[in-house]
Amino acid sequence: MNQPTLNIENLQLGFKSHVGMSKVLHGISLNIRKGERVALVGESGSGKSVTARIILGLLQTLPTARISGVLEFEGRDLTKLSAKQRHALRGTEMSMIFQDPTSALNPVYTIAVQFTEVLRRRQPKLKKLLAFEQAAAALRQVAIDEPERVLNSYSFQLSGGMNQRVMIAMALINNPTLLIADEPGTALDVSVQAQTLDLMHKLVQEHQTSVLFISHNLGVVRDFADRVYVIYKGRIVEEGATQLLFSNPQHPYTQALMSAVPRITGGGIPNIPDVSDRYSDPAYIHPASGGEL
Ligand SMILES: Nc1ncnc2c1ncn2[C@@H]1O[C@H](COP(=O)(O)OP(=O)(O)OP(=O)(O)O)[C@@H](O)[C@H]1O
Ligand SMILES: [Mg+2]
Repeated sequence: MNQPTLNIENLQLGFKSHVGMSKVLHGISLNIRKGERVALVGESGSGKSVTARIILGLLQTLPTARISGVLEFEGRDLTKLSAKQRHALRGTEMSMIFQDPTSALNPVYTIAVQFTEVLRRRQPKLKKLLAFEQAAAALRQVAIDEPERVLNSYSFQLSGGMNQRVMIAMALINNPTLLIADEPGTALDVSVQAQTLDLMHKLVQEHQTSVLFISHNLGVVRDFADRVYVIYKGRIVEEGATQLLFSNPQHPYTQALMSAVPRITGGGIPNIPDVSDRYSDPAYIHPASGGEL
């Protein structure tokens, strides 16, 4: 009955190359309940974006990727879905704000055509004109003053910040059950970043959306998330309610991470000291990491 929106157990990922297999995720376990805002934090290259891409089913088609573990979305086994079924979930029940907007926008179609396609996944018979109006309203919510001009443009005709806002509006427009935000608003100024967070809060309050929030900015994480997972070199090393984790971090990596929290939100990437030498003590391994070192 209390089934989480997302349940991941012992997720492992490796990439095969001519020199062998390089392991990137070593048994990640993570869950998100309905209406919960969960953050995933950790240094660059620790495995945050690949985790997000696996949830969306975007890495499964990569011939070099080797993936195993439990992946459940609203009780459904994601590993059993066909590529077509996974595609149908994206942009409707689960959507993602990408770190890089060019991954989400197609340069061959205008923004209006792409919005219409996304909207018709939920409302198959939606008329073009109505789709245009809904898209324009969504763009105004992300502080785009001339939505008509933007809708009639191609992504390469827009600035990086503008494309990012388009992508955010597109990710939110179908009220997804699960929203994954991977470093949302990195290319945006602080006021638009704050607006994006407000929109995400609104989505959670009005639609009980579950959010996986990936960010380097721990000041923002502290304000936004209910619960935090800390990932380090492909392992979850600590997990807990945001306030508790920030006030009483247990793992040395989390302690190092928390000591670098910027006091003012909107700061850059904190400089995290290397704590890898402390990993020789197996007592530090969080059980959720799968216990494999
Ligand atoms: N397609 C791929 N082929 C091979 N290795 C990959 C591929 N995609 C990601 N990796 C590797 O997986 C590791 C984790 O990458 P990931 O993008 O998840 O990092 P991240 O935690 O999101 O970092 P950042 O904070 O910089 O965005 C990195 O070492 C990266 O080089
Ligand atoms: Mg990333």
